[in-house]
Amino acid sequence: MTIQAANGLFISFEGIDGAGKSTHIDSLAQAFTAQGRVVALTREPGGTPLAEQLRQMVLNDPMDAMTEALLVFAARRDHLQKVIVPALARGEVLLCDRFTDATFAYQGAGRGFDWQTLLVLEEWVQGRAAQGAVASAMPPLQPHLTVWFDLAASVAAQRLSTARLPDRFESQPLAFFEQVAGGYAKRLAADPDRFARINADQAPDAVGRDVLRAVRSKGFLP
Ligand code: TYD
Repeated sequence: MTIQAANGLFISFEGIDGAGKSTHIDSLAQAFTAQGRVVALTREPGGTPLAEQLRQMVLNDPMDAMTEALLVFAARRDHLQKVIVPALARGEVLLCDRFTDATFAYQGAGRGFDWQTLLVLEEWVQGRAAQGAVASAMPPLQPHLTVWFDLAASVAAQRLSTARLPDRFESQPLAFFEQVAGGYAKRLAADPDRFARINADQAPDAVGRDVLRAVRSKGFLP
């Protein structure tokens, strides 16, 4: 059985730093739990002990864009093998705070690392390797839905200015986040059916309603 044929539901959440994903991920988890679904909450980079160690390095240690890209994909492979694929095979709802679109947005559009090379890494990590298949034609595993919290970089920066000590990404200038947002827009354009673009420049209640509406319109919640 391929991963796509399993009963699980895979939803990822994206946006520039400060876009405010966290509370909405928790609310959605409650909505699925109320439907009797088993929910697995996870994040990238991270989600396994090894991947969490890689996360600490990526967020804190100086390195170039290629090293960043390789480390986040190494973390992703471990996460896929140990958490994501097994959870989907068990039929769970897997809610993942960031996934590969973040690599295209941050390492690709933000840091300027080669987009084509990221596509190759995506195919390696989420394609045949991740699915344990010999066939090379198997498409990369992708979320069934990606919720993109879209917010102007200037508004996100204001929200972040009151937050805790910034990491290597949060401390980047406004122009970096404008590029990152452009990366998300490019990913959406390449696969529009997978994305729900949410206007994150609203009161939290309104954002939450839009997220629920997007998930319902896909038929994932009644
Ligand atoms: P984030 O998801 O914002 O978590 P928190 O709210 O706890 O800080 O932090 C993860 C950071 O990692 C974020 O700045 C984006 C970055 N990132 C990448 O650069 N590439 C990736 O592939 C992923 C998944 C995240």
